[in-house]
This record gives sequence, C-alpha cells and structure tokens, in this order.
Amino acid sequence: MTGSETSDAVPPVGPPRPDFEGFCLWMTGLPSSGKTTLGGILRDRLRPSGYRTELLDGDEIRRGLSADLGFDRKSREAHATRVAFVAKLLARNGVIPIVTLISPYASSRAAARATIGRFVEVYVATPLPVCEARDVKGLYRRARSGELREMTGVDDPFEVPSDPEVTVRTVGETPDASVAHILREIVVRGFLPPPNGDRSG
Ligand SMILES: Nc1ncnc2c1ncn2[C@@H]1O[C@H](COP(=O)(O)OP(=O)(O)OP(=O)(O)O)[C@@H](O)[C@H]1O
Ligand SMILES: [Mg+2]
Repeated sequence: MTGSETSDAVPPVGPPRPDFEGFCLWMTGLPSSGKTTLGGILRDRLRPSGYRTELLDGDEIRRGLSADLGFDRKSREAHATRVAFVAKLLARNGVIPIVTLISPYASSRAAARATIGRFVEVYVATPLPVCEARDVKGLYRRARSGELREMTGVDDPFEVPSDPEVTVRTVGETPDASVAHILREIVVRGFLPPPNGDRSG
C-alpha cells in the first residue's frame, strides 16, 4: 500500500553486501531493440545504490578498441571476444559491466559466458518489425534500400538465445518497466540483494 509497486516503477535494490562479487549483464538483441536505452537506465539506477558499473556499448567500443573491425562474421566474433575480455577484468574487480552489444552469434555469447563466469544474459527480444519501425539510426532503411550490407536482421543472422537468464520484449512497455523486470530477475537469481536485507519489502 505504499504506492511503490506500480508496474513501471523501477524497484530499488539493496546496497552491496561485504561479500558482493561483480557480475556481467550481457544485453543481446537486434539493432534498435533497446539495449543501449536499457543499459543506460540500469547504470543510472545501480550507481546511486552503491554499485560500480561500466557501460560497454558496442558502438562506443567500435570507435576505440574495435576500430579496426568490420561487420563480417570474423570481425563480429573478434568484437565480442574483446568486449568479453574487458568485462571479465571489470567483473572480477567488483564492477558490474553492462554490455550492450548485438552479439548475434550464440557461440560468441557462450564464449563470453565461459570467459566471464558470473554472467546474466539479457535477451532484448523486441520483434524485428518493431525494431524496423524504431530504426533509431536509420540503418534498417539503408539496408532495405541496398545501401548497407551485413545488417543484422536484414541480410545477416541473429541467433535467438536459447536459454537467457532474462528476456524482455519491450513492446507496449516503457523502458523503466523493462528495467524493473530485469532488476527483479537479477535479484531473484541472487546477483543483487533485495532492499531491506532478505525481505522483499
Ligand atoms: N521498453 C523499451 N525498452 C527499451 N527501448 C524502448 C522501449 N520502448 C521504446 N523504446 C525505444 O526503442 C529505441 C531503442 O533504441 P536503442 O538505441 O536503445 O537500441 P539498441 O538495441 O541499442 O540498438 P543498436 O544495436 O542499433 O545500438 C529507443 O528509441 C527507445 O526509446
Ligand atoms: Mg545501442
């Protein structure tokens, strides 16, 4: 009856316990599915609760660490391998790396999981027509017109995760509602503590 349990409200999480261990939030999904949007909100919610986070965004890393890579399969695999390596270093030092990367291949995600260990795969499962309608960067339009090649979802595959820890559809719900769902699942799985110690509030 406190009014804090509305469906869109992002639930608070408890502060880090003394034995807190870092873990990786790995957000995978089609272009324009919502990875960067959700990753940014997650970071902004976790930091005030006392967690150290780092957003590892595919676009940003392509401007630096992966600036030499293209969009062929080998390049996409190498990109994911590099991001996973950085995420591993962060997670083992008590940071929560939030990876927002299309990461279209199941084998790359499995390799990232094996590299990092403590790993929460979040499938941002926005259907392709919705992603195309959003077309945040205009890439679908350019791919459909033939101007752009190797576009995931158009002429490059996206392998749907078979067993992600969390799935969010994002359709008909606000980004805050999607983040609330993700945080609840992370708490249920014991990667983050609930507010008020062991009680769910
Ligand atoms: N529930 C939701 N969750 C996330 N994004 C949403 C939601 N509802 C609407 N959106 C909108 O969808 C768009 C998602 O764009 P965003 O850049 O986050 O996608 P992305 O997955 O990072 O794409 P890319 O792989 O091209 O970087 C934004 O404009 C966002 O406002
Ligand atoms: Mg993005």
